Amino acid sequence: MRAIQLNAYGPVENYQLVDVPAPEAGPGQVRIKVQYAGMRWGDVMHRNGRIRDMPPLPVIAGLEVAGEIDQVGEDVTGLKVGDKVVTMVPSGGFAEYAVMPALNLKPLDPSVQLDRMLAYFLNMVVAYFLVYRWAKVREGETVLLHAATGGVGLLALQILKRRFENVRVIGICSSAEKADLLRVNGCDHIVDRTTQDYVEEVNRICGPKTGGFAAGGQQGGGVDVALNGVAGSTIETDKQVVRKRGRWVIFGFQGGESMPAIDTASICYDGITIMPFSINAWFGQPEMAEAEAFTREWLEGEELNDVASWPLEQVAEASRAMEAGETSGKVVIKIGGAA
Ligand SMILES: NC(=O)c1ccc[n+]([C@@H]2O[C@H](COP(=O)([O-])OP(=O)(O)OC[C@H]3O[C@@H](n4cnc5c(N)ncnc54)[C@H](OP(=O)(O)O)[C@@H]3O)[C@@H](O)[C@H]2O)c1
Repeated sequence: MRAIQLNAYGPVENYQLVDVPAPEAGPGQVRIKVQYAGMRWGDVMHRNGRIRDMPPLPVIAGLEVAGEIDQVGEDVTGLKVGDKVVTMVPSGGFAEYAVMPALNLKPLDPSVQLDRMLAYFLNMVVAYFLVYRWAKVREGETVLLHAATGGVGLLALQILKRRFENVRVIGICSSAEKADLLRVNGCDHIVDRTTQDYVEEVNRICGPKTGGFAAGGQQGGGVDVALNGVAGSTIETDKQVVRKRGRWVIFGFQGGESMPAIDTASICYDGITIMPFSINAWFGQPEMAEAEAFTREWLEGEELNDVASWPLEQVAEASRAMEAGETSGKVVIKIGGAA
């Protein structure tokens, strides 16, 4: 089978298109004939050696697949050849076949569009948790959204603008084209991080934040919530714009090599709630079923985003583009036929 192998951590040239034997489904496993693989920021992190506990190199890269089951191992119940599935995989997603434990896999409705499913099945669950469960955004609030056109960011924006009547979103992006995408999705204020200083912009929009001891309990300026999957230098700058008693959700580090430590000394009088988030904390919890139900309902009732896909041979180019901030929405790799 054709697959994309990661030979060493580092630049995209370390991806190689290889021809290797297809894996076989062992006991308790199914084999998926992959039609689309999802690319997320986690793939960029994997390529750069920034994820702990990954299989040793060389390894077939790719962390999400959607396709049809074409082999069912012993002791598997509830799944059959031909069932459509979408799932995260620990590795091996950028390949024509992937093997996965059958446990927790559920067959999808046969009519489902698999590339669309890939765009929503994880990112919408994450966006749901960020907005409803973690930040607990309320009507009347202002939300600062970093990487607002990203795979997770665009869905978070859409929830905030379609499911709330009066939430103001300040979305950060990096090009005029992305700014247009934010505008058509109802983003109230748009900041291009390549040409504008977002702290200045938030100060202009919300008024300067009243912070520190001298301000007493006085209210004023700043955003109620920041949804930050970027970290890096924004760990310092966000402190200047999250208002007293605001919520600061941190769920990724696109802007740095690792999650930086947060020195709270400069904001200790601001009473900000700092909220690290990982979806890993929620697997198997009742709230996950709520998030999945929300996603299903969204897929059935909402206008959905177009999904642009790249061929398997262009995984390296897609990864370069994602890392350079050139992609919008979900990045999907087309591997098998359309389904
Ligand atoms: N905690 C969890 O459970 C969980 C789950 C899923 C994803 N995540 C995190 O959520 C974030 C979004 O993931 P995704 O897969 O949807 O990726 P994504 O946002 O689609 O990634 C691409 C975007 O990242 C932004 N970016 C890249 N480098 C940047 C930099 N140096 N500074 C600021 N922005 C930069 C760019 O946005 P602009 O150029 O437009 O600004 C780019 O378009 C990632 O940090 C990911 O690790 C966390």
